[in-house]
Amino acid sequence: MPPISMIKHVTIIGQGAIGTLWAYYLSRAGFKVTLVGRKSLASVLDLQITLPNKQQDTIALDYLAGQLPLEIDLVLVTTKAYQVNDALIPWLGQLTAVPIVLMHNGMGSIDKLPLTEAHQILIATTSHGGLKLANNQVIHTGLGTTSIGSFQGISHAAGRHIAKRLNQALPQVQYCEDITAALWTKLAINCVINPLTAVNECRNGQLSAQQYQPVIDRVCVEISQVTARLSLNLSYDYLRGLVNEVINNTAQNYSSMHQDIANQRKTEIDFITGYVIEQARRLNIQVPENELLLLEIKRLEQG
Ligand code: PAF
Repeated sequence: MPPISMIKHVTIIGQGAIGTLWAYYLSRAGFKVTLVGRKSLASVLDLQITLPNKQQDTIALDYLAGQLPLEIDLVLVTTKAYQVNDALIPWLGQLTAVPIVLMHNGMGSIDKLPLTEAHQILIATTSHGGLKLANNQVIHTGLGTTSIGSFQGISHAAGRHIAKRLNQALPQVQYCEDITAALWTKLAINCVINPLTAVNECRNGQLSAQQYQPVIDRVCVEISQVTARLSLNLSYDYLRGLVNEVINNTAQNYSSMHQDIANQRKTEIDFITGYVIEQARRLNIQVPENELLLLEIKRLEQG
């Protein structure tokens, strides 16, 4: 692992709202950022961003179609969970000596990647809010935090080093030795907010209304039953408190699943609620509320 100041060349695969936000903040912090995609676009993208304080900024970002840049110190994969395989597999052979950070909502995508022992993989989860209006236009709708941890092939010391470097671009980034607990915590938040805002066509903040409290309780109870069997220290009270906090902190946001359904895009439900259901089945635990929400989202996706 190069010294902290030497992590300079960052390749970003996945140009949704989160990938674009990271590209902006890393560039502003002096990193050399290259966006890699499959579409043939101009090799320089003039990005316009609206910051959380409503100020506007523009920045030029390098874009490469169908190839990786020559210098890479770190790869950020910010596609949707269901796109990780297609987006990363073509490059895996060339990325054995480079730390790769997977950052998306949901869990389970990594289990489907054909990784070898040579791959250095970290997983990250972020609560920053973003809204992509066009290829070159993004709004940073809400400040959040990012948790990152080693999954394989990279030591905690090296992982901390990467977290510190990312923190220089878009704080707060914290390193978690137990990233699984952080991922399940975010999963619980997404299992509540994402399907409920999509089904009820509302902003995150509207979920604080009395009518939604019983269903939120049931989703959190089911998830805490699953996490208890996985020996994760995430009690119902803890998860319920966090869910309320995120609902309040992101009150004006439309969740990513709401945005996906509103724009007739595939959602990440299979990697959010679907992942909980899969684990629950394996452990013989009943999760009827999550099953119902999955069915409702599938129905909306088909509609
Ligand atoms: O998916 C999202 O929209 C976000 O993860 C969250 C935390 C639910 C806030 O909108």
